[in-house]
Formats: sequence, C-alpha cells, structure tokens
Amino acid sequence: MTSVSVDRTTPTAVATDAGRLVRHFGDVDDLLPLWIAEPYIDLAPPVVDALRSRSEQGWYGYETRPREAIEAFWVWAARRHKWDGSGLHTAVSPSVGTSIGVLLERLTSPGEGVILQPPVFTDFKPLVAAADRTVVRSPLILTEGGYRMDLEDLEAKAADPTTRFMILCNPHNPVGRVWSTEELTAVAAICARHDVFIVADEIHADLALRPHRFVPFATIAPGTGVSWAVIHGPIKTFGIAGICDTLLISDDKAVTAAFQEVSGRLHLTRNNVFGIAASVAGYSGGANWLDELLALTAANVTLLHEGLPEGIGLVAPEGTYLAWLDFRELRMDVPELATWLASSARLALSPGHWFGREGAGFARMTIAAPSDRIAEAIDRLADAVGAIDFTAEP
Ligand SMILES: Cc1ncc(COP(=O)(O)O)c(C=O)c1O
Repeated sequence: MTSVSVDRTTPTAVATDAGRLVRHFGDVDDLLPLWIAEPYIDLAPPVVDALRSRSEQGWYGYETRPREAIEAFWVWAARRHKWDGSGLHTAVSPSVGTSIGVLLERLTSPGEGVILQPPVFTDFKPLVAAADRTVVRSPLILTEGGYRMDLEDLEAKAADPTTRFMILCNPHNPVGRVWSTEELTAVAAICARHDVFIVADEIHADLALRPHRFVPFATIAPGTGVSWAVIHGPIKTFGIAGICDTLLISDDKAVTAAFQEVSGRLHLTRNNVFGIAASVAGYSGGANWLDELLALTAANVTLLHEGLPEGIGLVAPEGTYLAWLDFRELRMDVPELATWLASSARLALSPGHWFGREGAGFARMTIAAPSDRIAEAIDRLADAVGAIDFTAEP
C-alpha cells in the first residue's frame, strides 16, 4: 500500500506544477514536494476500480444521485464515528470552500464578523475577505501540552454584536488537534450565548490518529442551542480532492435549503458522475485502505519524532496527515526560513505564516507518503541544519 506506482509529477498536479513551485519556493532543483494536503501513495483500490469501471460505461450524461450515495456516507459515519444522522438534513456541494462561501452569503451581511482560529487552513481568510465580511481572529494558544483554544478570547470576540459566524476546523489543519467533547461543548455554548452560527469544517474527520477519536460537532451541538452546519466528504480521506464531492449537513432544514437555493440558482448542484462513483466506493469499500493510511501516518510521526535534528521540533498531530514542524529555535525570520527550507533543505513545505502570523517559525509537512520519502525529508533537514553556521553574526 505504501507503494507509489502512479506518476505524481503530472504537470497539472498542483503539488508538482513547475510554475507554482517556482512562484512559491524559488527556482530550486530537486525539490521534494510535501506541501499539498493529499496522500502521496496509491489510492484505495475500490475507489480506483470504481472510477475505472465508471469510465468504461461509455455514458457520462446527467445523472441523478442515487439514495445509496448519501446512505453510504451515513453507514460509514455510524461505523467509524458512532454518529447517527437521523433527523439531519444533507446537501451535496462541490467543495468545502463552496459551502462556506454560500453560507457566508446567506447567513451574514457585508462587514459582519467571522471568527477564525489561526494558525488555520489558508482558504478561510480569503473566503471571508472575498465575501466582504470581517475576519475576527481568535488565535489558538501553544502550551507545553500542545495547542488549545483561548476560550476567554473566543467569548469576548463572539460577544461583539457584529460577530455572526465562526469557522471551526475539526480536526484542525495545520496544528493537528482533534478537538475534545469538552472543547467542542465550550465553543458551542459560547456561540449559542452570542447567537454566532458555527460551520464546522470536518473534512479531516476520518483522519484521527489513535488513541484520538474524532467527535462530530453534530453530536455536541444539540442541547447547547447553537445554530450550526458541518462539512464532510471523501476528498481528504481517500485523496480525491480533484473529484469535488462534499456534503453539507445541518439539523436545520432552513440551512440546507438556503444552501440548495443558491447552489440551484448558480447550477452548483450538477452531479459529477465520477464523484458519485468514487465516494460510494470509498465509503463502502475503503475502510481497510484508510486504516493502512492511518498506520502509515502514525509510523511517519514516529520517524519524525526520532529523526528530526536538534533545533527542529514536532507538534505531534492527533489527527490529519499533516505534521506541524517547529523551526523557532533556528531563529530565522519568515523570509529567511522559507528560503532556507527550499534552497538548503530542498523541501517544498507550506510555510507556517501562510496559516496566519501565529504560524511564523513553523512549516507544515504532508506525511501521508511512503516512509522512505519522509526519511529522505528528515535527512535533508538534518543536512541543512548541519550546514548552518551558528557562530555567524546575525
Ligand atoms: C480544513 C480544510 N478544509 C477544506 C479544504 C479544501 O476543501 P475544498 O478544496 O473542497 O474547498 C482543505 C484542504 O486542504 C482543508 O484542509
């Protein structure tokens, strides 16, 4: 399973696109690209087989989404997360970004505040800004025990009457927290008190690493009085982001109906015939492959723990196949660290400041990759640290 038989240097793959690499990392030869959050291994055979047989059908016309497609998700959610979807409403959406964008348009007005918890996934801030809403920052706090939410700050920000919406990332990209029942309950209670709508982006839900368990926000929200929606889908789980098929779920029919009204008007609801085939196959037959992916990710976390050179720390992920590396001991500023990572270590990682200013001094590495590739990345980091002249004047 950890083999890579597919050529991932295809020129149209964002991860290896030459123009993007030069733009982000400079003109460096032999960069090891571990910056895009997708698995760099062969994908689940049931998904690949389903896509192959769907492509062989020879018709790709307008297709109705069969009931089994949504049912396959709920069977999966019950098995993997003990999450029963009875009474919930589900809408299909091409992407997480689409769902958040549409909800912002429908549930908030220009200028109103949207809480983000940086360092956090890079798309959120531009989505809020593009909708002409105001980003309200409630940064996570890094403690000895890892990242945690600043609930006092969150309460203060939510209490501002212009704050109407919060994007919760659960599990959290890039810091890898799998939020606990207590944390989620506290967030729900705060937002309920101040009438702030929560959309929980749970696209990394299936990627909790043992012993951590993903807690669906939908199982916490009832009883707290908060208004909410959650976003799920197979795109991260099975490495099929290019297939564009996600779900928006809420207990409030008005929320999914509002979404469907906009997406119907803009024709965002057309089914992608390959999306249906891939998600049903993944949810119905991809569990063993996913378990292997999670075992590989956990093994790569251990490799990083044991192999990272002195001066580079690891914020151990509780979930996601992303590792948040801490370079602060190297005392480089933002441009210096980015240049050093690309030119000296020859690694294309996502620099931490892309996720907000709190990410300065960190970088994100995708570790859903064969262990020899992660070992290679560790060697490159060790060589690059070894070449630093710590005695030089700053
Ligand atoms: C937390 C999170 N949400 C959303 C996405 C992207 O979703 P989409 O491409 O469907 O907008 C990513 C991709 O890395 C992500 O990490």
